[in-house]
Amino acid sequence: MKTQHLLHPFNNIDNLPLKNRVVMAPMTRSRADNKGNVPTNELHGLYYEQRASAGLIITEGSQVSKQAVGYINTPGIYSKEQVEGWKKVTERVHNEGGKIFIQLWHVGRISHPDFHNGELPLAPSAINANEEVYTPEGQKKTVTPKEMTKEDIQQTIQDFKNAAQNAIEAGFDGVEIHSSNGYLFHQFFNKTSNKRTDEYGGSKENRARFFFEVLEAIKEVIPEQKIGARFNPSLHGTFGMEMDEETIPTFEYIIEKLNDYNLAYIHLSEPFTDVSDVPFAVENIAEHFRPIYNGTLMINAGFDQKSGNKIIEEGNADLVAFGKLYISNPDLVERFEKNQELADWDQETFYVPGKKGYTDYPKLKVNTLEKI
Ligand SMILES: Cc1cc2nc3c(=O)[nH]c(=O)nc-3n(C[C@H](O)[C@H](O)[C@H](O)COP(=O)(O)O)c2cc1C
Repeated sequence: MKTQHLLHPFNNIDNLPLKNRVVMAPMTRSRADNKGNVPTNELHGLYYEQRASAGLIITEGSQVSKQAVGYINTPGIYSKEQVEGWKKVTERVHNEGGKIFIQLWHVGRISHPDFHNGELPLAPSAINANEEVYTPEGQKKTVTPKEMTKEDIQQTIQDFKNAAQNAIEAGFDGVEIHSSNGYLFHQFFNKTSNKRTDEYGGSKENRARFFFEVLEAIKEVIPEQKIGARFNPSLHGTFGMEMDEETIPTFEYIIEKLNDYNLAYIHLSEPFTDVSDVPFAVENIAEHFRPIYNGTLMINAGFDQKSGNKIIEEGNADLVAFGKLYISNPDLVERFEKNQELADWDQETFYVPGKKGYTDYPKLKVNTLEKI
């Protein structure tokens, strides 16, 4: 048995044995084709293939519909062309012995009319996030979105269901619902962004209803063990999110209810910023939610080799997702195995086109360089 907990295999997900507990966190890299939001170019396949020694890769957020978009050059998973584009990616990862989930994304109000032929983006309520977005025309301020009608909600549920079906057709091992980071589901969960008076607003049960309806719809087309969901319970001050006295109880309700499902995993984020002075925030998310959830718990945000091994050893998480470290260390697992140094990431190239800062981070050993 390997001594590091991160390197132990994980066999608790049906038909998805993971060779280690190191997960590549979902990261938008803005290299998709601008017009069709298709991950067609060679670079995508290479980028994910280079990282296939991870126990599991979760792709960048991928729109479930045209309506779901809020960033330039991000891929989608709603058209035939997109499915074909992703097939090339999943094939390359599988050929290297990797496993890959796609993150299903709808940004809600974190968007702009520039993306929607001048129409307003959709959200649970007509409340501006007061954030900045990059549109094809440049950086702009978000606008007050349109409150979703019941028909909009039904259409979006259908969009997630279609996207999940497409994901399986494209060869993905599963899907992660992006119910995190201030995007559409999170906007429904939080009282500050959801002022609805119908069955989708008010009580925590009502604010969680849309998410569970989407989950039920996805379940109709793919097994529960191919579905993960991501949450960021203590998100405050970014992506338009503010915490209140019901924020954490809402996530407790959601996560406890997820025990009724047999999901692949839930994926939780520790706070992205210092929340020690933020009223109602929980500082240690894994510790707080571990006793509430019986299934596989993946944790993220700010982890390194040492803290990743520790949190598994302590029993507060089963899997650890690494974000920025995976940008600059395609062979992160091998570096952990050999206790070798880690390369720093270059923030300037996170979201720019081309291979610089994308596929040109070298692996450590010369004899593994031939694919790069
Ligand atoms: C360039 C970049 C893009 C990201 N895009 C996404 C995304 O598409 N979906 C998502 O859920 N999180 C996204 N995140 C958040 C990461 O998944 C992760 O939560 C964050 O980087 C903190 O983890 P780390 O400290 O290991 O980097 C992104 C982060 C970065 C740095």
